[in-house]
Amino acid sequence: MGKVKITETILRDAHQSQIATRMTTDDILPIVEKLDKIGYHSLECWGGATFDSCLRFLNEDPWERLRKIKAKAPNTKLQMLFRGQNVLGYRHYADDVVEYFVQKSIANGIDILRIFDALNDVRNLQTAIKAAQKENGHVQATVCYTISPVHNVESFVKMGKDLENMGANSICIKDMAGLLTPYAAYDLVKAMKEEVKIPLQLHTHYTSGVASMTYLKAIEAGIDVIDTAMSPFALGTSQPATEPMVATLQGTEYDTGIDLDKLSEITDYFSVLREKALASGLLDPKVLKVDINTLKYQVPGGMLSNLVSQLKQAGKEDKFDEVLKEVPRVREELGFPPLVTPTSQIVGTQAVLNVISGERYKMISNETKGLVKGEYGKTPVEIKPEIIEKIIGNEERITCRPADKIAPELDRLKGEIKEYMEQDEDVLSYALFDKVAIKFFEHRKAEKYKMDVAHMDSENKIHTV
Ligand code: CO
Repeated sequence: MGKVKITETILRDAHQSQIATRMTTDDILPIVEKLDKIGYHSLECWGGATFDSCLRFLNEDPWERLRKIKAKAPNTKLQMLFRGQNVLGYRHYADDVVEYFVQKSIANGIDILRIFDALNDVRNLQTAIKAAQKENGHVQATVCYTISPVHNVESFVKMGKDLENMGANSICIKDMAGLLTPYAAYDLVKAMKEEVKIPLQLHTHYTSGVASMTYLKAIEAGIDVIDTAMSPFALGTSQPATEPMVATLQGTEYDTGIDLDKLSEITDYFSVLREKALASGLLDPKVLKVDINTLKYQVPGGMLSNLVSQLKQAGKEDKFDEVLKEVPRVREELGFPPLVTPTSQIVGTQAVLNVISGERYKMISNETKGLVKGEYGKTPVEIKPEIIEKIIGNEERITCRPADKIAPELDRLKGEIKEYMEQDEDVLSYALFDKVAIKFFEHRKAEKYKMDVAHMDSENKIHTV
């Protein structure tokens, strides 16, 4: 047993979970130097939905954000969340895109890549892992935690060992839904630590109200690193709060060594942002309440709110209970995928369609078809023949690693956006979010033009004085 290390998630998962990933670079930068002095194991600050959000909602270049954070945090490792062959998008990309994205992430400042696959299909992690190794990045390979008749301590430990054998530098148990209860965590961590030699990290969400206790039991079982968020954007759908976790461990054999006084300056800074987010309605206090439905239905908190809004749009809010019962049925029929982006959306949307159309699988989304065809990889349990028939008829299914069917894309993409390219990384923004990226490039060009004109004006003034 030794000291517990902390990954701070305030710059990524915390605001992704509570304020729709709307923290801007201007919100982030003034506090980075202080965060850099805390002594965190790492700062999770990039990847996940932050990339999409920068381009789509904030008119920001995500690459520039990363470089600016790096410049102010020379002492702390920067960490990102990377969706295996989906990179930071929602479909599988060709290997050349995955490799180039990893290379550029590391070149721009990322030290640790937490790489996961929604189906826990390790073939979908291969390319990203190899690319990160080539660039001397730290590979944190991920086991997505879920509950089903086929997921258990043995299956998770086996996956952990597989990932270690693939060359991972550490393993993360990722409980995206807050399903991992304290004693289950103890057993899982204990078993994993006995079999896996590389460091072990735990990620969870507070949604169901058990997460701090889960961390404590995981710590007693020997976990090396935990993910927490500074209190102004902690708890609820986010992570357990950093400060109470540090206080809990102080003076014990698990002491994080982090100074609570130093943390309080950071708490103050983010408290102001929190008040602003509450006042503007960006932070809905609803996300802060304990939601026991996540344990009851084994559905991530974010997925529950998506279901509500999909039903609202269809004018069928009264069907919520029916949909909640439909989700586990669909999940079982689709081979028990863990529910995390993008499988949570696929299962959730299909459950809604099954209920509102009045007949199960009368309407089928393209993504459901893709999942059944094998486009996302191998589901934890083989899908039953009658379900396959119902969803894709006798269309051919993919049984190999899905990316083996995708031809290289990078050269074509480069050709398509020649006129917009201002940096090598632009082709990657475009590869993942084509139309959204183009809209951002147009905006960037317009802003630059405005600045050039302003600059010319001021020069003219100097000459005429
Ligand atoms: Co998370």
